[in-house]
Amino acid sequence: MRILEAMRSDDFEEVLLLQDRRYGLRAILALHDTSSGPAFGGVRRWRYPREEHALRDVLRLARAMTMKCALAGVPGGGGKVVILDQDDLRTEEAYELLGQHVQQLGGRFYTGPDVGTGHHELSLLARTTEYVTRPDESGPGDLAAATARGVIAGMRAALEELFGSRSARGLRFAIQGVGEVGAKIARLLVAEGAEVSVADLDEGAIERLLAVETEIDVLPPERLLDAPVDVFCPCAMGGVIHDLSLGRLLARLVAGSANNVLALPRHGEELHRRGIVYVPDYVLNAGALILGAAFHLRGQRDVGAEIERIGETVRWILRAAREGGESPMAVADREAERRIAEARAKGRPFFSS
Ligand code: NAI
Repeated sequence: MRILEAMRSDDFEEVLLLQDRRYGLRAILALHDTSSGPAFGGVRRWRYPREEHALRDVLRLARAMTMKCALAGVPGGGGKVVILDQDDLRTEEAYELLGQHVQQLGGRFYTGPDVGTGHHELSLLARTTEYVTRPDESGPGDLAAATARGVIAGMRAALEELFGSRSARGLRFAIQGVGEVGAKIARLLVAEGAEVSVADLDEGAIERLLAVETEIDVLPPERLLDAPVDVFCPCAMGGVIHDLSLGRLLARLVAGSANNVLALPRHGEELHRRGIVYVPDYVLNAGALILGAAFHLRGQRDVGAEIERIGETVRWILRAAREGGESPMAVADREAERRIAEARAKGRPFFSS
């Protein structure tokens, strides 16, 4: 993958390649768009089999954050960092150094959690940059709870469009991944009277959920996709909908928190052809972004009403898709791109450090 070519085709502003041999740090920081305000995006630390996978991941994730901002009405854009995890990575020093790079961007980029970056790593970043979501009481609060709330709000709108009621009562759900977000969604759905099956690769995650919620059915991870359910709710890693998994899905609705659920954009069209409604991930999982951005830009934590608005956006997308005979993804992408183009035409705000 050629970096400059990739930047041009998806219109990236800036991609920084970071290296420090002392700490085994190799990272890529991508800023997709700051036309409407600063870029927001977490730090993902992952063992990529090849360098190219890391580059592809960071670009895709950063661009999705811009789309997420556009449809959530957040005055900002997309960014992301990936750290290429390896044996000689000295986590503490590496995160501190990364924080310095973020600081040097002078507020053009706010960063936060993602896979491999939890409370501990966020506090390391916070030693060297002010532009990070702090995991303690000085930060915005529980981002995963905000995400779960947004997913449920969007899901309700989708349930109403598909099944005629906003309630999950009596419907069957399969939740893939019961970590921070998935476990919260599982509990909310059970409380409402839904039949919930879950699967997780990590037995610890299942045990933690069972300790607080016994009314769930646990399935082996490889059987979850074939479960006879109404809704498949991906809350683990991306790329779960691909050529092989598509044909196994029995659900009528796919709606969850995972980023980049589709292995390729064409899989969204394929779901549509099969009569399965896919609510675009970046629309549904914007809760944490809405809370994080409100906190950083306005010092506000009470954003429940804004998060609930995800429901209205989902309803609008599904209705427009039905009327136009298109996939929800096509409608959402077009609207997000329209808003991004409009913001770019107005020019970029000035950031000073
Ligand atoms: P997490 O790391 O707490 O939980 C993910 C869970 O999925 C883990 O328990 C893991 O063992 C499990 N898992 C991984 N692969 C699996 C597989 N093939 N089958 C079954 N289980 C599997 O992550 P978190 O924070 O709950 O996020 C979940 C998803 O939502 C991720 O894709 C994340 O990028 C996305 N997301 C999270 C946000 C947040 O606020 N935490 C915000 C927006 C998106």
